Order: sequence, then structure tokens, then C-alpha cells
Amino acid sequence: MTEQKATNVIWHDGEVTRADRGQLLKQKGATIWFTGLSGSGKSTVAVALETALHRLGHLAYRLDGDNIRLGINKNLGFTAEDRTENIRRIGEIAKLFVDAGVIVLSSFISPYRADREVVRKLHAASDLDFIEVHVDVPLAEAEKRDPKGLYKKARAGEIKNFTGISDPYEAPEAPELVLPTHELSLEQEVEAVLVLLKARGILQG
Ligand code: ADX
Repeated sequence: MTEQKATNVIWHDGEVTRADRGQLLKQKGATIWFTGLSGSGKSTVAVALETALHRLGHLAYRLDGDNIRLGINKNLGFTAEDRTENIRRIGEIAKLFVDAGVIVLSSFISPYRADREVVRKLHAASDLDFIEVHVDVPLAEAEKRDPKGLYKKARAGEIKNFTGISDPYEAPEAPELVLPTHELSLEQEVEAVLVLLKARGILQG
């Protein structure tokens, strides 16, 4: 747990409630948390899902590993400690977006079970939906794809602590959904998430 440094700080509610915002947007905010190896297809699914949701008239917003690391988390690297802080901050950001009524599509390797659990609990404590989706491909498949050429560099020892090669990936034990992207089409993947969102009342109508 991260220490609360500031003392004498108190949460302040406004007059417009989460339910008010939900009514305005005709949706319930939720975090769809894609986790998986680099190159597993997390960002690809998130992008396609964002487009599909937008076409259906829903407000979604992507939080993506590389993008976030270019901005708010530019001071973090890939040690276990930095990855934990990366995920903690993203969890807090996701929570704010969800409270605002937005459907958050987050794509981070998020290799540690305990870190993902922190984000899940953070949402649960505020009665917010958290849907964990394991984008699950064998390491050999991710390495074969190697879209950024990073596995090659990691094998050559040019990148340290690379997930799957020289750093662990702890697969989820009970994710809400598993997407084996080497066995499904992108359309099937998007559809599977949409079905789940409807079943859970996140998308109305
Ligand atoms: S996480 O482990 O902290 O969740 P995150 O998803 O933000 O990682 O960032 C992963 C992205 O950073 C990868 O897709 C890859 O492009 C890049 N990257 C650079 N170095 C590493 C590394 N050592 N391990 C994993 N990904 C790395």
C-alpha cells in the first residue's frame, strides 16, 4: 500500500452525482482492463473496441502503456517497483474516468497479479465496475509477432527485465474474459467484450 503522506485532507463531493452523469451519457462507466504479454494484442483490441463503442454512441477512452509512459509516468521504468507504481497510478486515473461515466479501455502488460488486484479493489471500494480481460497468447506467438522488435532486443540482452524473457508475467486466475488473440478474429474479440458489457448492464439499450 502506498503511504498517505498528506494529512488533513478530506474527500469533497459535489452536487452532480455519478448517477446524474450516467443518465446524461446513457451508460455506466467501467474499466475494461486488458492484461497480457507485449505483442499479445491488447492495444489492437482496445482500439477496435473504442471504435465500435463510439459507433454505438458510447463514450470510451483508451489508456495505453506506451502513451502513459510518454506522459504522466515518464519517470518510471520497468523494475518491479516501477511497474507497481505505473499500475497504481493508472488504476487511480481509470477510477476517476469511470466515476466521470467513461468506459475506460486500459492496455498495460500489468504483469503482477497483486498490482491488478490493487486496481480491482480500488474500483470495488467505490462500487465501480472492473472487468479484467486476459489477452492470452503463448509467449512463442507474441515473440513471433514482435511488432516493435523488442523480443529480438531482449533475447540479445539489449533490454533488461523484459516481460516473458527476463521478467515474469503472472496470468490472471479468474479474469472476467479470456481472449486468445491467435485463435480469434478481431471482430470476434470486440463482439465478446460487447456481449459482456451488455450482460453487465454497462451498455444500456
Ligand atoms: S507494465 O509492465 O508496467 O504494465 P506497460 O504496459 O506500461 O508495462 O509498458 C509496456 C510497453 O513498454 C511494452 O509494450 C513495450 O513496448 C515497452 N517496454 C520497454 N521495455 C520493456 C520491458 N523491459 N518489459 C516490458 N515492456 C517493455
